[in-house]
Amino acid sequence: MSSSMSDQKLIKSFYIFIVLGVVLTLFLIFLGNLNAGTINDRQRDGRNSMAETANTDTLEPVGQISVADAGADQAEIIQVATVSIDGASVYQSACMACHAAGIAGAPRVGDVAGWADRIAQGADTLYAHAIQGFQGKAGVMPAKGGNMALSDDEVEAAVDHMVAESQ
Ligand code: HEC
Repeated sequence: MSSSMSDQKLIKSFYIFIVLGVVLTLFLIFLGNLNAGTINDRQRDGRNSMAETANTDTLEPVGQISVADAGADQAEIIQVATVSIDGASVYQSACMACHAAGIAGAPRVGDVAGWADRIAQGADTLYAHAIQGFQGKAGVMPAKGGNMALSDDEVEAAVDHMVAESQ
């Protein structure tokens, strides 16, 4: 009986020992998690703020430069397109074939006498005849000189050039 009593005591203190050990282990795990958690949070905060700084550093200038440049380039291109209608070069590409030598009855550019009566009609009539085409006594002036890709403005610029060279 006494041996079983001491056995029970031994088992009891063994249990207490195990329970204390378990409690201590859980406590240590808890502490460890607590510590690790705060460190991770701090590291994460650090990384986040670094990432934010990196983002603003790299993205802002790229966005500003590309938008501003695109706008400036387009403005320049539009300006060049409106400014650069050059009557002389339109004349050379679309009108010179007939009007330089006076082919098929075309009034020759530089022939002051040949142009005097035509110029006397007024610029609007010359523009209309050049843009829409015109059948005269000397021959047929094809609409836009046969080059329908030309804008009205380009044809008018070419007429201005031809008139200026023929006065
Ligand atoms: C295929 C030949 C040909 C081409 C190309 C040509 N012309 Fe003519 N053009 C003529 C002929 C022919 C006349 C004269 C018609 C007439 O008076 O009988 C004429 C006349 C004109 C006149 C005088 C119109 C008037 O009322 O007296 C103008 C201005 C003119 N052309 C402008 C142009 C312009 C600008 C171009 C180029 C965009 C051009 N021509 C290209 C053949 C051509």
